Amino acid sequence: MSVASSQRQVYLRLLQALRPHWRSDLNLPKRIQSLLAGERAFGSRDRRLYRELIYTTLRYLPWIEPWLEKDPDRAAKIAGWLAADTRDTRAFRAELCADWPGLPSLATRAKFLESSTAELLPRWFQEHCPAIFEPRELEVQLARAPLWLRLQTPNPTEVTREFTALDWRSQPSPALATAWRMLDEADVTKSDAYAAGRIEIQDLGSQLVLESIAITPGDRWLDACAGAGGKTLQLSQRVGPAGAVDAHDIRPAALDEMLERAERAGLENIRITARPAEGGYAGVLVDAPCSGSGTWRRAPHLKWTTTPELVTARAQLQRQLLDRFAGCVRPGGLLVYATCSLSSRENDAVVTDFLSGHREFTVAPPARAFGFEPTAAGLTILPARHDTDGFFVAALRRR
Ligand SMILES: C[S@@+](CC[C@H](N)C(=O)[O-])C[C@H]1O[C@@H](n2cnc3c(N)ncnc32)[C@H](O)[C@@H]1O
Repeated sequence: MSVASSQRQVYLRLLQALRPHWRSDLNLPKRIQSLLAGERAFGSRDRRLYRELIYTTLRYLPWIEPWLEKDPDRAAKIAGWLAADTRDTRAFRAELCADWPGLPSLATRAKFLESSTAELLPRWFQEHCPAIFEPRELEVQLARAPLWLRLQTPNPTEVTREFTALDWRSQPSPALATAWRMLDEADVTKSDAYAAGRIEIQDLGSQLVLESIAITPGDRWLDACAGAGGKTLQLSQRVGPAGAVDAHDIRPAALDEMLERAERAGLENIRITARPAEGGYAGVLVDAPCSGSGTWRRAPHLKWTTTPELVTARAQLQRQLLDRFAGCVRPGGLLVYATCSLSSRENDAVVTDFLSGHREFTVAPPARAFGFEPTAAGLTILPARHDTDGFFVAALRRR
């Protein structure tokens, strides 16, 4: 049996283990990780190959799933054909898909497989965000998400020198010079730059959330849903050493991780708070828990596990969190609401509902819109324009 044929068998075996869970397990990436880690015979190249094939399967599930019963070999061939062309997938694709054309446009791909592109996102989501069903956005939804870094040093010479020595290519974003996109597969967490806090991993869309806000150095901010601190660190740099960031979350373990990252970056103006001060902040960031529909290309299983009911439940929680933290904003200060969702029900609708019950707040236009058109409520960061995850951000000023 050829190498690619035996890889096909392994791929199909792995899929059988995941199949009962891929429409129900919100934590599927963890399951995939332990499945691959449990395969003792795998080297790192095998893990990268099967990871890519599995994620491709999840991205294009409606095009592949039906074949698993009818014709598993065809399912493997479709997955190989649609997978990204990397060092790890090249031999598999070359052997199994030799008689198929190179990857054409999405519409032609669909025609070739006698499928429909509309199936590749949950149909019910069209009402929540019609924009991502447009061809350009849909194409991006099906591509692998890039790795974005946020530079934490004003002088990147050492980072550039190290990356050059490691043969890692990177490129600053035209939208934001301090955001670098990695052009090569690289485990940046193993670099000196990462260990010394000169870089952090943070999607560009996530970086644009705070970059769209006017933040005054020296101000005191609350990061009310800080989690592991992606935005806390960025906020800390924006307010500078004369300012301060209080970080709050219901997950202490995530806050510990945030502190580790802050220490690595040498940021000394962050502290954890269990009881944020009423009226005590020039700015409050509520980066709320959400359905995560902006991260579908990074976490494609969410396309099949997310339901309209989950979106409704998240919107209720988001509304409660805005009520809970609005009182922490001092008069004249900003309440910044953000999600990594593209559902209007979790975004504009939550803001509109909040404003109807809080006449003391008004929408402040974004300081920078990065080419997007703000609505009356806020700014939606769609993935295709800057090759990012999708986000929403609204700045609400307290009178
Ligand atoms: C989208 S994540 C935050 C991500 C983080 N800000 C970042 O940039 O990496 C939402 C966070 O809200 C937290 N959360 C959920 N319910 C909360 C509550 N009632 N009060 C504060 N934080 C809450 C979750 O634990 C989670 O860390």
